[in-house]
This record gives sequence, C-alpha cells and structure tokens, in this order.
Amino acid sequence: KVIKDYAKLIKEINKDIIAFSGFRSYNYQKRLYESSIQTEGLQYTELYSAKPGHSEHQTGLAFDLGGEMKYWLEEEFGETIEGMWLRENAHRFGYILRYPKGKEYITGFGYEPWHFRYVGVDHSIVIYEGELTLEEYLLGGE
Ligand code: DAL
Ligand code: ZN
Repeated sequence: KVIKDYAKLIKEINKDIIAFSGFRSYNYQKRLYESSIQTEGLQYTELYSAKPGHSEHQTGLAFDLGGEMKYWLEEEFGETIEGMWLRENAHRFGYILRYPKGKEYITGFGYEPWHFRYVGVDHSIVIYEGELTLEEYLLGGE
C-alpha cells in the first residue's frame, strides 16, 4: 500500500520525482548521523538527522523526495514546482509533510520540505486540513 500509493502520486505529478532515501537500517542511520556530524557539524545534524534508533526511515514509512538533484535536501526544494506540488497534494495519497516550517519546536526537527511519511489517507487528510504535525494529531488538539 505504501508503495502503491507512492506510485499513484508519481504518476499524477508527471514530473520526475525520485525517492532518494527510503528505508534505512539502524547501522545505516548511525553511519549517516556520524558522517553528518563530521561534514555538517553537530548543530545541523541535530536539526536534520535523527539519532540511530529514532529515525522514521527505519520504519520504512518515510521517504526523502526530490526533483532536480541540486535541490536534494535543500530548503529551496519547498519552492520548486515539485516541492510545492508535494506539499499540497501528498495527503491525497496518504503521505504527510512530516517536518513543516514553523513547527520545528513541536517536531524537534528543522523544516524538511523533502521528507514525507506515509500515514494512510484517512489520517493524512485530517492532518493536512488541520495543518497539524503528527505529534499534534496523535495527542489530539493543540
Ligand atoms: N531527517 C530525519 C529527521 C531523519 O533522519 O529521520
Ligand atoms: Zn527523511
């Protein structure tokens, strides 16, 4: 279902969007986290990378999406056609923008216009329409 709905989403946008990161094992997340500290520093890493054992990527339900490679993992992706389309349409396919802008204090992570998580369409529509994060949705209310 996760993959089927993803295929539908890709078909509809009719643009090249690729999932450049999907499932990660614990060890792979650990390597990513550690190499990010080396290359980007601790502050960036704490904002954009989950500690091993804490990443949604380890569940297989989260995907990092991108169009042109130069926007991969860049905040500007949110202003590209693909990024805007995903933000406004991913919920129709069961996906949510997991780390929205302005909700960093709730999610604990920086704005990631590329990171989408599958929650199923019943949930994604409520989350999108309520402009909620998964945290707010699960806890019920503000
Ligand atoms: N970039 C997200 C927070 C992760 O590492 O799961
Ligand atoms: Zn991600």
